[in-house]
Amino acid sequence: MDIEFVVAGAPTPAKAAYALLVFEGDLLGGAAGEIDRAAGGALSRALEAGRFTGAKGQVLDMPGLAGIDAGRFLLVGAGKAAAFNDTAAEHAAAAAFNAVKSSGTTLLRVQGPPDKAAHMAMGVRLAAYRFDRYKTKEPAEKKPSVVMTQIVSDDVDAALAAFAPLSAVADAVVFSRDLVSEPANILFPVEFARRVKALEGLGLQVEILGEAEMAKLGMHALLGVGQGSRRESQLAVIQWKGGGKSKPLAFVGKGVCFDTGGISIKPADGMEDMKWDMGGAAAVAGLMHALAGRKAKVNVVGILGLVENMPDGDAQRPGDIVTSMSGQTIEVINTDAEGRLVLADALWYCQQRFKPRFMVDLATLTGAIIVALGHDYAGLFANDEELAANLLAAGEAEGENLWRMPLPAQYEKGLDSLAADMKNVGPRPGGSITAALFIQKFTAGKPWAHLDIASTAWKKPSTNPTIPDGATGFGVRLLNRMVADKYEG
Ligand code: BES
Ligand code: MN
Ligand code: ZN
Repeated sequence: MDIEFVVAGAPTPAKAAYALLVFEGDLLGGAAGEIDRAAGGALSRALEAGRFTGAKGQVLDMPGLAGIDAGRFLLVGAGKAAAFNDTAAEHAAAAAFNAVKSSGTTLLRVQGPPDKAAHMAMGVRLAAYRFDRYKTKEPAEKKPSVVMTQIVSDDVDAALAAFAPLSAVADAVVFSRDLVSEPANILFPVEFARRVKALEGLGLQVEILGEAEMAKLGMHALLGVGQGSRRESQLAVIQWKGGGKSKPLAFVGKGVCFDTGGISIKPADGMEDMKWDMGGAAAVAGLMHALAGRKAKVNVVGILGLVENMPDGDAQRPGDIVTSMSGQTIEVINTDAEGRLVLADALWYCQQRFKPRFMVDLATLTGAIIVALGHDYAGLFANDEELAANLLAAGEAEGENLWRMPLPAQYEKGLDSLAADMKNVGPRPGGSITAALFIQKFTAGKPWAHLDIASTAWKKPSTNPTIPDGATGFGVRLLNRMVADKYEG
């Protein structure tokens, strides 16, 4: 599906749809009023006959409207004019697209407030995402029919200029969603690393460390997780150097390409979901893609811990004690609490090698965060107030919600081990919190935040019109926004 910006005027092909965004309390002002007059009052009658109020998410679809060339005309609720921001523009345009995408319509034109044209295009672009690589028998009438979306703008050049950085972010979100959607037989650590290495074409520097190199560094917490897998573990180190000599920002992702639980094996029901246990790594890879795509003026490091957690004759056992790169020893009580073991070494390596301004890790870490927050919020844990505030603000601005969670020192004793420096699991209550407290032990007291995105990396059914069911790409937009707003220039 292509997107272009055009100046106002109704499209003429019969297979076209023409969608107008309208505000609550002002349905027939502006362009909609003109359409109503051209259509002999058909719009007024349709409004009287139904319950369309212009509230967010509402769509009034009118095929075959007399006096209008386009085959279908849609009124799209944009909510209250005073609350209409970038996110609302994205959602309204996405709702218009979703309403007609498989209707037989081939051309969609969306018209809304001209200053929001770029964000309307962004909304459509993200809504049109589809992972259909492995569908070989889908009949044509089930495939999306819209091949072109036109966004109306009174200044096409200005809209194009405003859309350029958004489009770079959309490409990155798509890259991230594709990684999450791929099954684990296709996307294993080496293949993930290969796809990240290919980002060098965008101007990123990418190093891939294999098991031998990680063993030399003493990363036995990470390596223990991958020990039962035929697939070699990898550490990807991605650098974007757009900020001269300034200290880098660092982002670290959990990339468990498949999480069976290991010897502490998970139940069969729903285990297939664990192909997206690399959502944190995918978000960090997506961020790096976005920064390179829009040539961000900042230095950023992205580190991905890529492993597969399998049961096997060689797999690590409950009760095994591993020595992490930091020198701290860990008693592995539950091999299914593997993400924190991967992050322990990835974070330690990151702060040792790069001395970053801060580290933010993203991980599909705990089922408990889903219980706590549901699917519309990721958990935010931080030891630094400024970093926490910047992340919260960026999430709010991009419609990727975070909720701050505590890091209470008194819960740390839940990780006490009889035999080692710590256990890898605490008691069930507050499971997301002890997981975060565990990770904190590998941050060397440096500014750090942890986003538990187990709740948001994948969503079915989706409740956001810019996110089709499945991989969300959660984190890419939020991190990119935080970097752009607070750390560039
Ligand atoms: N990858 C899972 C967390 C998860 C669960 C993500 C459900 C998405 C949906 C993680 O590795 C895990 O297994 N966590 C355990 C921790 C427990 C053993 C302390 C969990 O949440 O049950
Ligand atoms: Mn697990
Ligand atoms: Zn996991």
